[in-house]
Amino acid sequence: MRITPNNAGLGARVEGIDLAAPLTQPDFRTLLRALGQYGVLCFPGQELEAAQLSEFGSRFGDLEVNVANLFHAPGHPEVMILSNMRDAEGKPVGLHDAGQGWHTDMSYSHDIALANALHAKTIPMRDGRPLGDTQFRNMHAAYDDLPTEVVQRLEGRIAIHDFEKFWEVMRTRPGSIRKPLTPEQRAKKPPVPQPIFRTHPITGRRVLYCNPGYAMRIEGLEPAESDAMLEYLFRHQAQEKYLYSHSWAPGDLLMWDNIGTVHNAAADYGPEEPRYILRVQVMATRDYASLAA
Ligand code: SIN
Repeated sequence: MRITPNNAGLGARVEGIDLAAPLTQPDFRTLLRALGQYGVLCFPGQELEAAQLSEFGSRFGDLEVNVANLFHAPGHPEVMILSNMRDAEGKPVGLHDAGQGWHTDMSYSHDIALANALHAKTIPMRDGRPLGDTQFRNMHAAYDDLPTEVVQRLEGRIAIHDFEKFWEVMRTRPGSIRKPLTPEQRAKKPPVPQPIFRTHPITGRRVLYCNPGYAMRIEGLEPAESDAMLEYLFRHQAQEKYLYSHSWAPGDLLMWDNIGTVHNAAADYGPEEPRYILRVQVMATRDYASLAA
């Protein structure tokens, strides 16, 4: 296995490993460490069925079944289909607008996610160029650069994250097929408290864990200060120097750290430019410090 870091300070390419086969313990440990260190790992040229993607993801933690439970691979509720394609009857085969806005998956959940693993089958192309990049920002670096007075003001503080915030933003987009959350879905995903800074379970370093997709307000601050502070954090983390944009190729398996990064799916392709990707979300359900040691 060869791991080649990108120049961007975030992201690495991992070659010489077939993820359709069970991971050996040494390879698992190497990949876990690399996930913490580089944040985004691209494994090009992979060929996995839904069951194999599920098996790969579940080596790292329990897999989430998405609360909307709209589109998943047959027999695998934990493998979600992200796609703008339609079947012969014109029905959507996947969620077409997943992640189109800066966010961190599962920050709206009491139990947070370690990682996502997405496997690209079809990627939209225009004039020979891939579209629909997934973009990332480095939240280790964003924390490291925060002014001391901001760290002191926010250390130990909690932000409230709400699943419905992002869902409702997506619903306002033209062509959205998202319906309002049902009372049952809402009851499963109430607003939750999250620390604004956390210690990353693999690297042991502090990260900024506050994203514009889900964070609503900071507890214990007056509304005006809370709004201003969130605005500040979102602008700070949006700096170009923290950005890495992944251009997809069919066969890529992209795994990213959901604690040390925020991400956004670029919505720069049309309905006639097909995209089809399988996704699993890996919950942070293991003792990663020991596993990576
Ligand atoms: C996601 O946020 O998990 C989806 C990202 C993508 O489709 O590029």
